Order: sequence, then structure tokens, then C-alpha cells
Amino acid sequence: MFPDLTRDDVFRIETRHLWLRWPRASDVDDFARLASDKAVAEMTTCLPHPFGSGEAEDFVIGSRRVNLEGRGLVLALSPHSDPAALIGLVGLQVQDDAARSLMLGYWLGRPFWGQRLMTEAVAAIMDMAFLLTDAKHVHSPVRQDNAAALKVLDRCGFPLPDLSDGANRFATATIGRGEWLDARSSAADRIQLRGLASLPAV
Ligand SMILES: CC(C)(COP(=O)(O)OP(=O)(O)OC[C@H]1O[C@@H](n2cnc3c(N)ncnc32)[C@H](O)[C@@H]1OP(=O)(O)O)[C@@H](O)C(=O)NCCC(=O)NCCS
Repeated sequence: MFPDLTRDDVFRIETRHLWLRWPRASDVDDFARLASDKAVAEMTTCLPHPFGSGEAEDFVIGSRRVNLEGRGLVLALSPHSDPAALIGLVGLQVQDDAARSLMLGYWLGRPFWGQRLMTEAVAAIMDMAFLLTDAKHVHSPVRQDNAAALKVLDRCGFPLPDLSDGANRFATATIGRGEWLDARSSAADRIQLRGLASLPAV
């Protein structure tokens, strides 16, 4: 589902504060240290706990294979100030080829929370989901009590998922191509308005 452009490890995205790039072997130590934090793992569906170097190594190899085969786009997050470091991950994987649906997952190491970094990263990869593939929907599992993740999803245009199912810890947030476009164009309007407001008066 992903094009040749993203299937090569030179592919990267630059956002205001981050590089989003393919994970690599040199990420294993950062990965194992940050993802072994229970506060990170318990909020995700993809990180086992405990999580050590072996798991991190498998994840790096697996993610590179997924990227190479175009079955997804899993990217490490590095701050501009330290492009060799890994501080978190964001990934899209094909969930259902026929239904043209993708699954979004993401986590950030605890020392980096609260700086709007994940909002930046998720917004960037969502652009890739809808610009580079013909996906109709992106789904994202989210723990019902994960206020930070719900806020990230909301800022990126996802409608609030149904949080009424008390039997399930996780809900699924879903955004369609049209909803993403609406969210993008209202964000573009806001940017344009800010730009106009800063123009000197004539
Ligand atoms: C969820 C997570 C990715 C958020 O990353 P982040 O970079 O800190 O997120 P952002 O700063 O972009 O946005 C988080 C927002 O939620 C808010 N928030 C955080 N904790 C909150 C809480 N307990 N209640 C209400 N709001 C909360 C933050 O204040 C922020 O909003 P603000 O910018 O208006 O202040 C990060 O906390 C994380 O990795 N958690 C563990 C793994 C996980 O939950 N993954 C997602 C599900 S798979």
C-alpha cells in the first residue's frame, strides 16, 4: 500500500522539532531503555512489558521489513538537536488491504512528554497516510483513560471514539479521508489567518 518513496531508508520527514526516520540498529539501546518504562507500555497494545534489548532488536528488524515491503511506515522520532537519538516511535501498518484501512500506533519516552511532540509527529504521519496511500480510514486503539493520547488524536482531527464500553479498556478511534481533509483545511485556515494578522497595516 505504501509507495517506493517510503520503502527506502533514506526516507525521512522533518517537522518543526523532529526528524521522523526509519529505525536502525543503533536505536536499540534508547528503544529498550524508554520502552521498558511500564507507564509507556501499559498504555499501548504493541509494547510487551518487560521489554529489553532483544525485544527492541526484533522490533527494529520487523519495522524495517514492514517499511521495505510497503506494508506500513514505522518511523523513529529524533529531536533536531540530537538526530542520532530515538525518543519515541510512530507507525502505520496496513490493517486490511481490501478495506484500505491502516492502524496507527505511537509512543514517546517519558522524559519527552508534555511538549506537544507527539501531536507534531502524528499530524505528520497522518499526512503520509492519506497523501501517499489510497487509505480510506486510519484506526488507532486508545486506552479509554489515556487522556494525553485522546488529546493528541483530537488535535489531529480524529472524532472522539465511543468510550462507553466499560468492559473494554481500549477503544478505537477512526478517521476517514474526508474528516482528515476537513481537519487539514481548518488548520490551514488558522495558519493563514495568523499570517494575515501579522501583515503590516497599509
Ligand atoms: C500519549 C503520548 C504519546 C502523548 O505524547 P506528548 O508528546 O506528551 O503529547 P502532546 O504534548 O502532543 O499532547 C498531550 C496533551 O494531553 C495533555 N495531557 C497529558 N496528560 C493528561 C491528563 N492526564 N489529563 C488530561 N490531559 C492530559 C497534555 O497536557 C497535552 O495537552 P496540552 O498541549 O494542551 O497541554 C505519551 O504520553 C505517551 O507516549 N504515552 C504512553 C504511550 C501511549 O499512550 N501511546 C498512545 C497509545 S498507543
